[in-house]
Amino acid sequence: MTSPIPFPSRIWQRSGGSAILLFTALLTLSFGGLLATPRVATAQAQTSSATSPSDPWWKHAVVYEIYPRSYQDSNGDGIGDLNGITSRLGYLQSLGVDAIWIAPMYPSPQVDFGYDISNYETADPQYGTLADMDHLIAEGKTHHVRILLDMVLNHTSDKHQWFIEASSSRTNPKHNWYCWNDGKPANAPGVTAYQKRFEHDGRVPPNNWVSDFGGSAWQWVPAVHQFYYHEFYKQQPDLNWRNPAVEKAMFGAMQFWLDRGVAGFRLDAIPNLFEDPQLRDNPVLGDTNAQGDPKVSDIYTNNLPEVHDVIRRMRAMVAKYPGNRVLIGETYLPNTAELDKWYGGTAHNELQLPMDMLIGFHGDHDKLNAAAFRQHIEEVETQIHGSQPLIVFDNHDNVRAIDRYGDGVHDDQINKVLATMLFTTKATSLMYYGEEIGMHTTTPTRREDVKDPIGITGWPKEKGRDGERTPMQWTAGPQAGFSTNSHTWLPIPPSHKTINVAVESKDSNSELEWFKQLVALRRDLPALHSGHITMLDTSNPDVLSYVLSTGTGPAVVVAMNFTATPKTITLNLAGSGVKGKTVKTLAADDASLKSTTTLKNVTLPPFASWVASVQ
Ligand code: NOJ
Repeated sequence: MTSPIPFPSRIWQRSGGSAILLFTALLTLSFGGLLATPRVATAQAQTSSATSPSDPWWKHAVVYEIYPRSYQDSNGDGIGDLNGITSRLGYLQSLGVDAIWIAPMYPSPQVDFGYDISNYETADPQYGTLADMDHLIAEGKTHHVRILLDMVLNHTSDKHQWFIEASSSRTNPKHNWYCWNDGKPANAPGVTAYQKRFEHDGRVPPNNWVSDFGGSAWQWVPAVHQFYYHEFYKQQPDLNWRNPAVEKAMFGAMQFWLDRGVAGFRLDAIPNLFEDPQLRDNPVLGDTNAQGDPKVSDIYTNNLPEVHDVIRRMRAMVAKYPGNRVLIGETYLPNTAELDKWYGGTAHNELQLPMDMLIGFHGDHDKLNAAAFRQHIEEVETQIHGSQPLIVFDNHDNVRAIDRYGDGVHDDQINKVLATMLFTTKATSLMYYGEEIGMHTTTPTRREDVKDPIGITGWPKEKGRDGERTPMQWTAGPQAGFSTNSHTWLPIPPSHKTINVAVESKDSNSELEWFKQLVALRRDLPALHSGHITMLDTSNPDVLSYVLSTGTGPAVVVAMNFTATPKTITLNLAGSGVKGKTVKTLAADDASLKSTTTLKNVTLPPFASWVASVQ
């Protein structure tokens, strides 16, 4: 896709460039107080794996994203499903996962593979039934794995009953649930040639807003003689969050699942709920993107301040449920100060865990860069008013981190370096299925094989997101143990022969074992899950190192070599307040580091990770 645009665009790093996401529209109804009370208070009471008894479970938790189509097929149709996920809870428990976030499993025409929801209150038959969901939630409790759902609030499917009614006539009571506009005459002053491409009945879209997935963000509906706004595919009309009825309905959908015992939600595209009521053109940036649309900024379609009022009400609604239910945000933001607003700043009354996308998705420098990581990690640990950071490197929208940060030679070690960063700060860790075994992005090589629509329309500049969504690699056997059906919805990458759970479980030096080891260490050591971080050796361009300390108990030193050549370091703890000079290795991915006892002249092999306690 196009080159990254500064805030407030979201940035998806892709092999062919990066994609830009934009946003939602209008109407001027004002909000009323919509605080709902829980209908049933079924807490998801589970033994917390956590750390300090007073901490809510999600603090320092390991959250694991599952793309349900791709995790485990239990009925042989070549598509992953809910019972498949349930069958893998034992594996997730053994990995030390505290919660899984399941990408949308609701009924959907699957244009955007579930992010186009046609009914928020059950499961898509291709994934299972509501009873299967209840079973998954119940089994999750047995395995101490909480269930988080993906809540798509910005838009519905165009096949949702609400939109079917809304688009039937201007007087339908649901009409104002979406964002409609009459457009303007095609011969009005200032109408661009681009806008004229979307002319219907002599009218063109009201402004230059471009859909993230290609074309104008406005779609004409002859029955109402109006355009509706869609930030994403035209099959994903944006809801009108200025209409209080929308908030009431969507909070109701959340309560439906909270009542069934889910532990919280990952909020999709959450900064995009509102658009400029004046519909001002977004500033033009010049050039075109991979879909051939003009590049525009998104200042009038993303991260508008109104969204925070909704989030505060949502937090209050969720807080009425027992069991520390959590709200996680898909928050691509330009800087830490902006991220802090999503926590509610000093009031701490918005999301508990907006994702920090500045650490794992730099946008402009996706290579291992010690100075950049040092700065970002320190910032998020110190500049969010004591809120809890959430670090993430991978998801279903981006080329896998192992390929973004990897050099093609030391990818396995580099994946371990990323894991070391992910698990050795007090931040909550969010990982993506397959990250723990070093699964690679397997991008389609032919347009006719692409499933993700943006990869079809954007080919060859944008090849879509299939590459990071390939089936989980469980074994070296047929279909990687994912399915009994030889026709899986995406092909099984040939790499499954060597990169899979079965093989890596038997290799004490594997990425899988490294992930497990770090997760277990973090659980056990207060310094690792709650320690204050002090960066060490801060002018070193090649090695990232820090010490973590709670002030009582042993401190922990972490060092990672970001280069392909050995690096010798001497770490001085003087400024950190940590006493002690001798160390004991807790985890090292290279045998040469296992007997290290001092912080002087420690040689880190290429891309080595080292974790040690200070005596
Ligand atoms: C963000 C999701 O992660 C992505 O997969 C989806 O296409 C868009 N939101 C639209 O829902």
